[in-house]
Amino acid sequence: MIQERAPIGIFDSGYGGLTVFKEISALLPQYDYIYLGDNARVPYGTRSFETVYHYTLECVNQLFGMGCRLVILACNTASAKALRSIQQNDLPRLDELRRVLGVIRPTAEVVGEYTQTRKVGILATPGTVSSESYVLEIAKFFPDVEVFQEACPMWVPLVENNEAESPGADYFIRKNLDSLLGKCQDIDTIVLACTHYPLLINKIQKYLPSHIRIISQGGLVADSLKDYLFRHPEIETFCSEGGTTRFLTTESCLNFEEKAAVFLGHAIRSEHVEM
Ligand code: SIN
Repeated sequence: MIQERAPIGIFDSGYGGLTVFKEISALLPQYDYIYLGDNARVPYGTRSFETVYHYTLECVNQLFGMGCRLVILACNTASAKALRSIQQNDLPRLDELRRVLGVIRPTAEVVGEYTQTRKVGILATPGTVSSESYVLEIAKFFPDVEVFQEACPMWVPLVENNEAESPGADYFIRKNLDSLLGKCQDIDTIVLACTHYPLLINKIQKYLPSHIRIISQGGLVADSLKDYLFRHPEIETFCSEGGTTRFLTTESCLNFEEKAAVFLGHAIRSEHVEM
């Protein structure tokens, strides 16, 4: 029988997952990808557990329906609130081999290697912060590391609404960074625990003391995926190798293409999907 091979699905609530896709496709250019941004329903970070789970499952099923076997939730809120339920309850009901992976574990696994003071700051959406996922996951790998969290409810809307360079962005970014550092002055490592936040990196760097290390997840997730595929040939064998990408958005294709082109550095075509 000829082995059916499929693209790798990458899902985010909006544009943020592009920061992960960019690193994954640079490290693993041989595979085919389908990126899905649920821009019509972003942000996820202020929504309930049930809503995030329901939206995420719909998007994952959309990607499975398009042939994907492996889907990366390139969204922290979805990873924090929906991943476990999908892995434990939804995937076992499928009769074929399917996998869904998140972005929190690959980050938690390495964060302790960056900090000298053992005090780490987490900048994330309210949903990710209230899930305590980072606190719990980091404690599994580095029990001596103390974690301080700051919820930044305005940061995703700033990115999604093209306000990343506005004076309003300065106000909110400064406010949240001051608040985080007010919780502990010895923090020497800060995780951008929302895939949208690297799109605000210029302003984050502007307001953070230069000795504080900023960790973005794209590269970590890409390395972790490479390792995962190496360790799981039963999944890797399903990943098609055409080097192509399809971009899907639940909102306007024009907006998505404009924004993605600036971020990725080249023009793209996108397709609208209704959820
Ligand atoms: C959001 O859409 O609010 C969150 C995206 C993320 O958590 O990475």
